[in-house]
Amino acid sequence: MLLEKNLIDGHWSGGSAGLEIRNPSDLSDTIGTYGLASKDDVDTAFAAARKAQRDWGRATIENRSLILDAIARGIFDNKDRLARILAREGGKTVPDALGEVVRAGHVARFFAGEALRMPGEKLGSVRPNVDVEVTRDPVGVVGLITPWNFPIATPMWKIAPALAFGNAVVWKPSEKTPSISVAVAEIVATSGIPTGVFNMVIGRGNDIGTAVIAKADAISFTGSLATGRRIAVACAERLIRCQMEMGGKNPLIVLDDANPDLAADIAVNGAFFQQGQRCTASSRLIVTEKIHDAFVKACVERIAKLRVGNALKPETQIGPVIDDSQFKKNLSYIASAKSENAHLAIGGDPLELENKGYYLAPTLFSDTSNAMRINREEVFGPVATVIRVADYDTALEVANNTEYGLSAGIVTTSMKYARHFQRNIEAGMTMLNLPTAGVDYHTPFGGRKLSSYGQREQGRYAVEFYTQIKTSYLSV
Ligand code: UN1
Repeated sequence: MLLEKNLIDGHWSGGSAGLEIRNPSDLSDTIGTYGLASKDDVDTAFAAARKAQRDWGRATIENRSLILDAIARGIFDNKDRLARILAREGGKTVPDALGEVVRAGHVARFFAGEALRMPGEKLGSVRPNVDVEVTRDPVGVVGLITPWNFPIATPMWKIAPALAFGNAVVWKPSEKTPSISVAVAEIVATSGIPTGVFNMVIGRGNDIGTAVIAKADAISFTGSLATGRRIAVACAERLIRCQMEMGGKNPLIVLDDANPDLAADIAVNGAFFQQGQRCTASSRLIVTEKIHDAFVKACVERIAKLRVGNALKPETQIGPVIDDSQFKKNLSYIASAKSENAHLAIGGDPLELENKGYYLAPTLFSDTSNAMRINREEVFGPVATVIRVADYDTALEVANNTEYGLSAGIVTTSMKYARHFQRNIEAGMTMLNLPTAGVDYHTPFGGRKLSSYGQREQGRYAVEFYTQIKTSYLSV
């Protein structure tokens, strides 16, 4: 049966083709067949959003704040149900899924406050009897294109500020995670939000994503570098603003003065939890000479003990990867590292468990060089490498030798190196004695170089992207 689950102008409607979604932990478990939206549906959604945005943009800040508060409550009240949907569909363990759901709730609650704090400025004028006011208007109808790896938190950190600052939304979630997207859309739709302000169209990037970009006043996207680049070009052609969060090849430097056990705990958490399917995952572990062997040994001991299995089972620490194409991509990177003579320290193989699913052993390569393909391209799987270096200066050089610049970490007890690293690493987020992944929900998120493009997301910085400035001169 085709599930009619696109939200267009306040109505749930189906679509032409159906997309069957299976549980990646157990391929015999079919979650549903989702109707994909058509290009006409996208047009209808934009027409409705444009009409509804006029009043929504003029609604009082309290009105919008209350809607965001209702969305937050909807998420918190349904957190266990949402976490199970997410774990079943996305392969995230239940505690990780719950963590993501709660994060999404906090994001909505944070922006309920931000709606009330819509900033502005009053300036004097260089002319007599003139005042100047700098105020912010909504951008209009924003198109939000979000990935499968954080399918509730990432949408919420776009949907919540978009709505808080008076925009209408057409959201295109990843077609790989429709059931959690529908659950989120149901919560937003029943929050009391006026009809048409919030719409969701499920579909693939190359047709539905393209249709969204053709109509939107702004695009916020999280996903791969290749897709982000295409979207940025399309947005430039239309001269609309865009905000891109793309890949990472995040370094974690481990210095001789660190405790190897603490360093291994940080590295294993950052590299393998959530199957490494995070743009912030620690994928290059850059380790100085004297701690190298003890660190690799401590990592291997921990990785050997990780319990890989069905995401819905309480004992599982590492679930399956999302789908067949990601699974094959991970294996091809593993093959490429082997062919370049990286040393396989542990893992490297698919795992056959009681259910058939996309299970891959957490994989660590040592004795790799930064020039290898596995150290240049984002894998997006439970795969990390160790790069041995002589000293801190070389470590920093290697860490910066990448096209990406999202998150970067260092494990050290030296204030001198910690501060030097913070100042000189080319990354949007830096971590001292913490994994590169795992961020707060009220602070700006984003990177440098090819990792990000456009204004920052999250925290009070989100206002920059979701509003446009008006400068008013008043003679009184
Ligand atoms: C985190 O590291 O806690 O796709 C969040 C991603 C990011 C979110 C990472 N947008 O991995």
